[in-house]
Amino acid sequence: MIDDVDRIMTVMTVAFDPAFGEAWNRRQVEDALHIGNCHYYLIGEKGQQAVDGASAAGFSLSRTGFQEEELLLLGVSPEFRRNGLGRSLLDQLRLAAATRGAKRLLLEMRRGNPAESLYRSFGFFPIGERRDYYRTASGQRIDAITFTCDIA
Ligand SMILES: CC(C)(COP(=O)(O)OP(=O)(O)OC[C@H]1O[C@@H](n2cnc3c(N)ncnc32)[C@H](O)[C@@H]1OP(=O)(O)O)[C@@H](O)C(=O)NCCC(=O)NCCS
Repeated sequence: MIDDVDRIMTVMTVAFDPAFGEAWNRRQVEDALHIGNCHYYLIGEKGQQAVDGASAAGFSLSRTGFQEEELLLLGVSPEFRRNGLGRSLLDQLRLAAATRGAKRLLLEMRRGNPAESLYRSFGFFPIGERRDYYRTASGQRIDAITFTCDIA
């Protein structure tokens, strides 16, 4: 588990643009995993699950609620992008969430994040927004958009 947090943080450090302040620190990840309703998945560069200390190219972190699963973070190291890993992480999340009883997935995204085209092509659609919810490192305000995706 400590080792897995290391590997999550290795991807976190390179995947998230510091301008948007979206990356979590190690303490936040550890706290989320301690609570017990959060789950993570590490993926290797060839799309396989990265287990037993194998190096990870991406990860997802999600939180289980009543009949829903919220995607908290999705990150793929820049060198491994546009190779289907992000979509594979969503596929895995949908399967795992279904086995935990979820009827839908949820996520919140800053307006303009290029990840939107991945989410939409996967089946997510917007259901709401919070105006000026995020603040960038330079002080700019950006809306948060909430997306959902039904689990068939
Ligand atoms: C979002 C992210 C996880 C996508 O990972 P990925 O492994 O590159 O995604 P995939 O290769 O599975 O992409 C599948 C499809 O989604 C779309 N897509 C993914 N990233 C895209 C981008 N930056 N711009 C436009 N379309 C994109 C494309 O249609 C792509 O298919 P294609 O490559 O055949 O055109 C990755 O870009 C990332 O880590 N971004 C920074 C962190 C972040 O913003 N995470 C989301 C918010 S928590």
